[in-house]
Amino acid sequence: MKIIDNIKELKEEIKKLSGSVGLVPTMGALHNGHLSLIKKSVEENDKTIVSIFVNPIQFCAGEDLDKYPRTLEKDAQLCENAGVDIIFAPKVSEMYGQDKNNLTLICPPYDAVDKLCGKSRQGHFDGVCSVVAKLFNLTKANRAYFGQKDAQQLFIIQKMVKDLDFDIEIIPCPIVREEDNLALSSRNQYLDEQDRLDALSISKALFEAKKLVKMGVLDTKKIIDNSLEIMKNLDVEYIEFVDMNTFEFTETVDKNTLALVAARVQNSKTRLIDNMVLWD
Ligand code: PAF
Repeated sequence: MKIIDNIKELKEEIKKLSGSVGLVPTMGALHNGHLSLIKKSVEENDKTIVSIFVNPIQFCAGEDLDKYPRTLEKDAQLCENAGVDIIFAPKVSEMYGQDKNNLTLICPPYDAVDKLCGKSRQGHFDGVCSVVAKLFNLTKANRAYFGQKDAQQLFIIQKMVKDLDFDIEIIPCPIVREEDNLALSSRNQYLDEQDRLDALSISKALFEAKKLVKMGVLDTKKIIDNSLEIMKNLDVEYIEFVDMNTFEFTETVDKNTLALVAARVQNSKTRLIDNMVLWD
């Protein structure tokens, strides 16, 4: 496995590759969720590239850019064991030059970003799309793997690929959960013991919502009341229901409905997200 930190060398390596290439874009601090994406890519492609880059332009002022966990050595070991061929781990100046505030950006449409996570994280998805597009161009990957935990991100990237005719297949990968159902996230590292317990209300609310739907409760207002009661130990930023194909809000659950939650735990103020398809 090669660890590459500059664009010139990456381009040279890419030229030498034959067969299909899978890309797993990450910000590092790899966990079993990332490893499930990597495993799928290794299975489906001749070569797998993992990018590890804490992308500053997708963080908003006051967010956790500085404290975001950076664990390259450990990540590299995990990638090596998983059969990755190349890690691309550039510095910020390598990706963006000296002025990261003066870049050409890809800005997804207002409709897609003015809701859910985009509402509280202004500019976040511009940063995500811009770095992902750059990684697609650099790696010339045939397939790219994204987790369904970041459902709005996945939707927006799929839209970008379609709207701009990127020649790449986006492969959505299911959420990976701990045994107690907490969705895996690099940010779970911020949780102390109490936060970790509190955070379980999120998945509990979603699984209860699923149960309600099974019992025939399809009115999202009723489901929201029940979910908010379960999550009353958290600062809930949103609980919303969308059609997963369009990300339009919906008031009645059907087979396409995705329930999404963002909430902060009380102690560390860590912001967590999760989502679930409610129809069985
Ligand atoms: O999901 C993430 O970790 C990031 O948003 C991504 C896709 C690697 C872009 O920086």
